[in-house]
Amino acid sequence: MIQLTHITKEYRFGEKSQTVLNDISITISEGECVGCFGASGSGKSTLLNIIGLLDSPSGGVVSIAGRDCCRLTDRERAEIRGERIGFVFQSFHLEPRYTVWQNVEVPLLLTNLKSTERAERISQVLAKVGLEVMAKKKASLLSGGEQQRVAIARAIVRNPDIILADEPCGNLDAENKETVMRILKSLSNEGKTVLIVTHDREAVKFCTRILLLKNGKIIDEK
Ligand SMILES: Nc1ncnc2c1ncn2[C@@H]1O[C@H](COP(=O)(O)OP(=O)(O)OP(=O)(O)O)[C@@H](O)[C@H]1O
Ligand SMILES: [Mg+2]
Repeated sequence: MIQLTHITKEYRFGEKSQTVLNDISITISEGECVGCFGASGSGKSTLLNIIGLLDSPSGGVVSIAGRDCCRLTDRERAEIRGERIGFVFQSFHLEPRYTVWQNVEVPLLLTNLKSTERAERISQVLAKVGLEVMAKKKASLLSGGEQQRVAIARAIVRNPDIILADEPCGNLDAENKETVMRILKSLSNEGKTVLIVTHDREAVKFCTRILLLKNGKIIDEK
């Protein structure tokens, strides 16, 4: 479970300051697929990065599975990120020279799993995103939709309980958008906590709960 309590984020530049997140309190439970919808600049990525422990809030508490993450060391935060959180981004961030298989293997190289166990995990997640047949293909040769499915496989290969996606369909056409959203939704059906931030009205329709973000505040929930 993710719990945010009175989260604020301020940026200062010289004499001025900008409040990017303004008193956000939300709870997201296991099995939920939550969409956070808002215009460009409303604070979506900032919020996602704070939940993903890539950034720290100016005030408030981020708690993951009951643990207050604001008081942890960088190392402890990195451990939680590696073990519990899978990230998916708009621009995929694959290594183009690696094959599909090698890209998905990257997060496992940081664990002490044996190569047979790694292989089993990789096959499983590639099957889940429907890309077993492309395992040996170079990432640079894939379509956008395929690349995003590889990125999702990589995000889930360490079996995290939280999936955070920042505009996962931003570079995809309608058909691939639907495929990617269905995969993300299916992960929540398996009990994972899924949060998708986007300004795409079509994409959030797949979510079980939609939070509307405006100027750093949650102004509505559907
Ligand atoms: N590191 C930073 N330093 C200063 N200001 C920042 C920083 N990161 C974000 N901001 C500001 O915070 C505001 C929200 O940015 P954010 O990236 O969270 O928006 P977003 O909702 O994700 O937008 P988009 O849909 O365009 O990705 C913007 O006004 C931006 O300029
Ligand atoms: Mg953004």
